[in-house]
Amino acid sequence: MKYFIVTYGCQMNVHESEKIAAILEKLGYQPCEKREEADIIVFNTCAIREGAEERVFGNVGNLKKLKKAKKDLIIVLCGCMTQKEETAQKMMRTFPFVDIVIGTFNLPKLADYIAAVKQGRQLQIWQEGDIDESLPYKRTSGDNAWVNIMQGCNNFCTYCIVPYVRGREKSREEQNILNEIKQILSEKKYKKITLLGQNVNSYGKDLKQPVSFAKLLKDICALEGDFKLSFMTSHPKDLTDEVIDVIANEEKIEKYIHLPAQSGNNRILALMNRKYTREKYLSIIEKIRAKIPNCRITSDFIVGFPSESEEEFNDTLSLVKQVQFDSIFAFMYSPREGTVASKMENQVPQNVKNERVNKLLQEEKRIQKETGKR
Ligand code: SAH
Ligand code: SF4
Ligand code: F3S
Repeated sequence: MKYFIVTYGCQMNVHESEKIAAILEKLGYQPCEKREEADIIVFNTCAIREGAEERVFGNVGNLKKLKKAKKDLIIVLCGCMTQKEETAQKMMRTFPFVDIVIGTFNLPKLADYIAAVKQGRQLQIWQEGDIDESLPYKRTSGDNAWVNIMQGCNNFCTYCIVPYVRGREKSREEQNILNEIKQILSEKKYKKITLLGQNVNSYGKDLKQPVSFAKLLKDICALEGDFKLSFMTSHPKDLTDEVIDVIANEEKIEKYIHLPAQSGNNRILALMNRKYTREKYLSIIEKIRAKIPNCRITSDFIVGFPSESEEEFNDTLSLVKQVQFDSIFAFMYSPREGTVASKMENQVPQNVKNERVNKLLQEEKRIQKETGKR
């Protein structure tokens, strides 16, 4: 029996696919190179932008032929896109040949669902659950081991679907994280540990006995072993001086921070509910540069947020010029149903978004040439 997993979206999803792989291997499935060879195909989906969802729709549609040729083929859709009830239902309607559609909280029971399908049932389930500490991972990222430190997000940036599909922030107990990393290090295969969370800087605030992200970093660095530690993603509103100091002082921590700015304009930042200003963002960059020379800094930007004017977009351009990031990701704003921004007036036309994203990327290229940064 063979399995094939297709993963969309962020590192969290990549890591979650490692969990899916472990569940399938426990059931006796082995990985295979091509979906044509598989007895079970899993699509671990992403809902962050419309483009991501369209790709999933297209690729799931293409599985129909395979299912016709192989009646016993099991097709599973999971992840952020299918956590949305309406989307899950639409997928079931559009693709009646799909066997299992589950949300982001249902993975712990995947083995039971597969057993039910083998007895002839079709399943569609999504419900809130808790962090499952017992599921193993089949690590697939070479000498890097991903370690989830928290799930969900409380920030509700007005453009973003993540809080709706991943629920509220839930931190793992520090001891569980430390134990997992000790176990990873004892295998002697991994040189890099990457901590994952939508907003790692707010780690531990929700625990019964709160633990700060800075303490977690220090405690991990104190573990024996030769490894490099990194993490993503940091939210500028929560990146404390203490965390910057820990990055500066701990040899094991990579000198790299991904710090999404999203916009360089204060009116747009406020509309996005980012809870910082351009000035605050720049002051954090200054602090990082002062305390951690040679720190690589990267960022994400959204262009064409509802009502963004040309001048306001120019503020984003000027921020990129000013900071000289090592690299940036530039996204065209994509309205996500259910979010606050999708209901805002003055949505920016697609051609303007295209122009702005191109301008931003060109500016970025120009700066990289000029500064010799990659
Ligand atoms: N938790 C992380 C990243 C979340 S998603 C953070 O807060 O930084 C990764 C990136 O996708 C975001 O930084 C943002 O730039 C982009 N993004 C999120 N929602 C989007 C949307 N509706 N349209 C376009 N880009 C979006
Ligand atoms: Fe989305 Fe904002 Fe949370 Fe990041 S911090 S996941 S952009 S709501
Ligand atoms: Fe996408 Fe979900 Fe990650 S929406 S970006 S896979 S948290």
